[in-house]
Amino acid sequence: MKNLILTIQEGIATITINREKKLNALNFETLAELKQVFEDLSTQREVSVIILTGQGEKSFVAGADINEIHTLDKEKAEEVVTNAHHIFNAIEQFPKPVIAAVNGFALGGGCELAMACHMRFASENAQFAQPEINLGIIPGYGGTQRLTHLVGKGKAIELMLSADYISAQEAKRIGLVNDVLESQEELYAHCRKLAKKLSEKPKIATKLIIDAVNAHYQFDKDGFAQEIKNFAECCSTDDFKEGTQAFMEKRKANFKNNS
Ligand code: COA
Repeated sequence: MKNLILTIQEGIATITINREKKLNALNFETLAELKQVFEDLSTQREVSVIILTGQGEKSFVAGADINEIHTLDKEKAEEVVTNAHHIFNAIEQFPKPVIAAVNGFALGGGCELAMACHMRFASENAQFAQPEINLGIIPGYGGTQRLTHLVGKGKAIELMLSADYISAQEAKRIGLVNDVLESQEELYAHCRKLAKKLSEKPKIATKLIIDAVNAHYQFDKDGFAQEIKNFAECCSTDDFKEGTQAFMEKRKANFKNNS
């Protein structure tokens, strides 16, 4: 794998997204590798728990790769986000516990990836946001649904409309993360300790608890379908072209607010 590092130790698999120079932004290739690695891990009997994190000290995942997103038209966008939904749904429905160790920025698709995991722990320097609106798009990898499930409708809408970044402590306060650890070292130590504990629990009960909790949320129903449609719609607008272009040119976007 080019963009992921996989290590397996004492039944615990750690997947590290490894595009540090791009703040671990999720390009299409990384998404494909994530799909593959979760498929592989699902059949590896010796692996009981997964920890997902980002390489380096700055970023978990700083979002979908904007350079790629910029090229999407409406049809292609629908295909891309449908594919990402399948991958993130597979993580959410994975039969073994998946722990996100959020070691820095969790923005856009990064926050969405963390939310697809079963639990989230963050280091003190982590920051969370759904800043897609600043690019003229909406969260498209499940964020409109999962953020609402986790923090409630009012806070979710505030975060998505404002694009505000929030600290790890604030993320904990609103229920977006389970807990905050002082340093990255402590974050990983905590996640490994928890993973070890979970790996000693009965496998079938573990799988069925995850399955039953997931049933409560009825994924892949109307909300998700609507998100795919709406994301694709955004990708046919001038504001989307301008928002992503401005990011690549490192300047402020000049939105015209027309179609
Ligand atoms: N897609 C593609 N590239 C990204 C990226 C993304 N989502 N996030 C960061 N990068 C790249 C930058 O373009 C830069 O690449 P370069 O060195 O080739 O120019 C590199 O990662 C480092 O990022 P940089 O912006 O220089 O770091 P910073 O510390 O100044 O700013 C952020 C950090 C997170 C505030 C800024 O990178 C950012 O706003 N990223 C986009 C966040 C976003 O909107 N995510 C949602 C996408 S749907």
